[in-house]
Amino acid sequence: MLKAVRGTRDILPEEMKRWNFIEKVARQVFSAYGFSEIATPIFEYTELFARGIGETSDIVSKEMYTFTDRKNRSLTLRPEGTASVMRAYLENNLDSDGNEATKLFYMGPMFRYERPQKGRYRQHTQIGVEAIGSAKSALDAEIILLLIEFLTGLGLEGFELQINNVGCPECRPAYKKHLISHLSSVSDSLCKDCQWRWEKNPMRVFDCKQVDCQEFLNDAPQVTDHLCQKCEQHFSGLQTLLKRVDVPFTVNKRLVRGLDYYTRTAFEVVHGKLGAQKAVAAGGRYDNLIEEIGGKSTPGIGFAMGVDRLSLILEQEQVSIPEQRPLNVYLISLDHDSYNQSFELMYILRKKGFSAQIGYEERSLKNQLKIANRLNARFALISGPDENKKGVLLLKDMGSGSQNEVPLSELIGKLTDILAPQKRER
Ligand code: HAM
Repeated sequence: MLKAVRGTRDILPEEMKRWNFIEKVARQVFSAYGFSEIATPIFEYTELFARGIGETSDIVSKEMYTFTDRKNRSLTLRPEGTASVMRAYLENNLDSDGNEATKLFYMGPMFRYERPQKGRYRQHTQIGVEAIGSAKSALDAEIILLLIEFLTGLGLEGFELQINNVGCPECRPAYKKHLISHLSSVSDSLCKDCQWRWEKNPMRVFDCKQVDCQEFLNDAPQVTDHLCQKCEQHFSGLQTLLKRVDVPFTVNKRLVRGLDYYTRTAFEVVHGKLGAQKAVAAGGRYDNLIEEIGGKSTPGIGFAMGVDRLSLILEQEQVSIPEQRPLNVYLISLDHDSYNQSFELMYILRKKGFSAQIGYEERSLKNQLKIANRLNARFALISGPDENKKGVLLLKDMGSGSQNEVPLSELIGKLTDILAPQKRER
């Protein structure tokens, strides 16, 4: 039997309910903050990611799904959304048009050739947010607040926000020199990846998952102790505002990000229920990215969340997901004529805004009621030769079991009286 490709998976209907819920809450919260949705192509020219994310990042150096098309152009399935959104921002002149920031969000699959494990897939889905146009720490605080409000809106608890400041092109080069000289004394003992990381991109060693490499970093210089004045001010401004809006956070001085475009603020939200892949959301500021890909210098900040991981936590925490569309009426008929009438009635009920379903096979009343039960129908609407003769239908409340004869002409009015408040809730 053919199987799904390693690292990919089907999102089955039960899980899809959680995904739809996640997307719905995201759209609600993000639009309240003034963000508009954007969709970019699934593949881009490879150069966009190489320049944007950085040649020495794990993503670009070993995780991209890159191929040449029929005209021999190098294309890549997007490993993340930020570079694509910046490309779209430039190509479509989405600058803020008098507003101080262009605020965008997106949802969709990303592709990374990583070793698959729980919570880590080769095709995963992200919901991301990008705000372009302001370098002020108030925007950082607002973006983080948005993330926290979204997670709370999902009904999630037990997550932790970690923040750091990874410096800027002014202060980082000097810090990197310190770090390189610290690492040079232990370079032979570092893992294979860090052997080349430490000289080319030494801060990436902080992101290494090998315990030994982490131990060598215990007394390494921290970037936060080498920030320039502007970065320091930015970092303290952010912390002041987060405290003002009651967002709990911890400063994690070792927090660096796997993508090279970050400047100043970097942050992650981790959740204890996720095991090894504990980051549920991550992001930061990228004040030089737009210039890197050919635009004029424009600051920006954003984050992305793993929908697969959010869904895992919702499941483990048994967060209750609101029923998407409860079934109002299941139509049951006992002979051919009443089936046709029920079919027409189903059409009318749906037009009036009720949800209705009908079966396709001939079954006994008992078996049809069983199906109505399984589908969680609020009512069964039963018709047979006797009801037809009298011009009535049997309306059975599937919860209480009580049933009443209702004249056909009064059916819609009666259902509206009972179900209208429920319909409005949707
Ligand atoms: P990232 O940290 O690479 O950042 O990914 C963001 C989130 O996507 C992670 O925190 C995680 O929840 C999820 N994720 C990443 N890789 C996988 C995977 N293989 N399987 C399942 N989930 C995964 C970015 O992509 C940046 N573009 C975020 C950003 C937006 N920074 C600024 N703006």
